[in-house]
Amino acid sequence: MNTKSISSFDKRDLRNALGSFGTGVTVVTSGNKLSRLVGVTANSFSSVSLEPPIVLWSLVATSPSLDIFDETGRFVINILSLQQMDLSKQFSSNLANKFEGIDFDQGLGGLPVLKDCAATIECKTIQRNVVGDHVLFLGQVENYFYERKPTLLFCQGNYLQGAECETT
Ligand SMILES: Cc1cc2nc3c(=O)[nH]c(=O)nc-3n(C[C@H](O)[C@H](O)[C@H](O)COP(=O)(O)O)c2cc1C
Repeated sequence: MNTKSISSFDKRDLRNALGSFGTGVTVVTSGNKLSRLVGVTANSFSSVSLEPPIVLWSLVATSPSLDIFDETGRFVINILSLQQMDLSKQFSSNLANKFEGIDFDQGLGGLPVLKDCAATIECKTIQRNVVGDHVLFLGQVENYFYERKPTLLFCQGNYLQGAECETT
């Protein structure tokens, strides 16, 4: 085993180690007709509390989308289905208009709720903390929707498809 000390860590290498933790893939959206629409592919999403229902995600502090998440005080977690890998790529790009060709409904506050997702979770920001080089958002769940369909996964830098190996 080649254990690495954090005192001499290489950012890319630490990212590889952290990327061993497999996750789902979300696109976190915000904005409305009065502002501009933003959407960011994010796998930092996690559920925190059921009573009250609270979730979190984090956004790199230099993101050009940050002002809109702050202004609206709301966000939507769109959990991608297996068929939506293109959306993950589109929303992790630096395209000028990431919403081109994207189907969405208007949710609470006029925020974009992407169509055909495995789940969508509409949230109101209840806490926003700068943590290192990211901004951590905690949101109270106000509306949610889900459909049982295979989801897109991400692990070790690659997209994967969820397959049951054992039922819990
Ligand atoms: C699978 C995956 C997960 C990602 N997770 C995050 C994340 O949790 N937070 C983040 O700030 N960026 C994350 N990114 C990178 C952003 O999607 C990417 O930097 C995007 O361009 C950010 O949008 P922006 O330019 O509007 O800030 C992830 C990218 C991929 C492909």
